[in-house]
Amino acid sequence: MKKLAILGSTGSIGTQTLDVVRNNPDLFSVSVLSCASKLDVIRRQIDEFHPEMVVLANEKDALEMEKDYPGICFEFGNIGLEAAASSDCDMVVNALMGIKGLAPTYHAILAGHEIAFANKETLVAGGALIMGMAHKCGVSLLPVDSEHSAIFQCLQGNPVQRVKRIIITASGGPFRGYSLEQLENVTLEQAMKHPKWNMGPKITIDSATLMNKGLEVIEASWLFDMPLEKISVVVHPQSIIHSMVEYEDNSIIAQMGFPDMRVPIGYALSYPDRLPNDLPSLKRFEKAPELSFELPDMETFKCMKLALDAMKAGGSYTAALNGANEALVQYFLKGRIRFIDIQNMLDEVMQHHKPIYKLDLPDILRVDRDARVAVKMLVERS
Ligand SMILES: NC(=O)c1ccc[n+]([C@@H]2O[C@H](COP(=O)([O-])OP(=O)(O)OC[C@H]3O[C@@H](n4cnc5c(N)ncnc54)[C@H](OP(=O)(O)O)[C@@H]3O)[C@@H](O)[C@H]2O)c1
Repeated sequence: MKKLAILGSTGSIGTQTLDVVRNNPDLFSVSVLSCASKLDVIRRQIDEFHPEMVVLANEKDALEMEKDYPGICFEFGNIGLEAAASSDCDMVVNALMGIKGLAPTYHAILAGHEIAFANKETLVAGGALIMGMAHKCGVSLLPVDSEHSAIFQCLQGNPVQRVKRIIITASGGPFRGYSLEQLENVTLEQAMKHPKWNMGPKITIDSATLMNKGLEVIEASWLFDMPLEKISVVVHPQSIIHSMVEYEDNSIIAQMGFPDMRVPIGYALSYPDRLPNDLPSLKRFEKAPELSFELPDMETFKCMKLALDAMKAGGSYTAALNGANEALVQYFLKGRIRFIDIQNMLDEVMQHHKPIYKLDLPDILRVDRDARVAVKMLVERS
């Protein structure tokens, strides 16, 4: 029985992780649940999964809820997430959104816990630190992101030194084929309608701006120790191929299936085993959609290019990019800026970023904060 500490259990990845647990009660149990605001959802999760520890964002909520569950240890805030990451468990599932996931990842590695890893922003902001520590402590980060899970699966049993390139697929998002002029007028409602995946609000907007693909390239570079020159992106609107690896003999191995996050989540939880499930499968190839491919438009969707440039520049550039992007997406979600402002303002913040190199945890968090302040000033001036 594998004991899971799930950070972000009420979100899109968190709830789908619990689906996998629900379908495999003899394989997994839940030791930690955590959330920020969905208190009614976490109450139902507590009743069903009986965790040992619950982490809420606010002290007041934790003190209130504690009264109803005398046997459970309630924690709160960043310290609570760090305690949960180091608690007694077999695997930490990091399903938090954003930079919030960085310090818990750090503490999970220090505690020697295997991590099912969804929280890409952690590697974007702190890839060198986190991967360096993971190697030192002998901890595995098992990818949950569908593209990274696909790459991981395509690498199994093959010599890494023979990889010619990694090919990350992208759905293209809801605005595929749009011109810059068309992007000027898109609404929040349109941006929230992803053609293939049902995800949390931040990643949904990142998918619409194509920032998500930039973040994924950075994540893949750190996870698989691949230089940027060996990673390419292809738009594949059907989202059947989740990513590919090309080897030096020109063989390309692809991982395919209907898009459902419970497949990569299940693989991360059960690796190296594979869990049977009842999800729709590509049983009949003659009925499968035609597969098409095109290049991403990085002239129009500048976020992706800004992400790749930040990774090339190194040091604190990606931490600044991540912090600024998170802040801009929140402003867009609140209706304070237009969709197109995300990429324009991000460009401006990145141009003024003063890099530092060799970052420890407090440095990364400081760069993140500074980038958010820079965004706030831009938004207030606009
Ligand atoms: N969704 C996908 O299909 C998908 C695919 C690939 C990768 N990812 C990555 O997975 C990560 C999570 O994405 P998501 O879409 O699942 O996000 P989400 O739906 O927004 O979920 C985030 C989770 O974190 C919790 N949380 C936020 N702040 C917290 C705090 N201070 N303390 C405790 N819990 C906190 C949220 O609680 P509340 O619900 O109470 O707010 C929620 O449970 C992101 O890094 C994303 O890029 C997601």
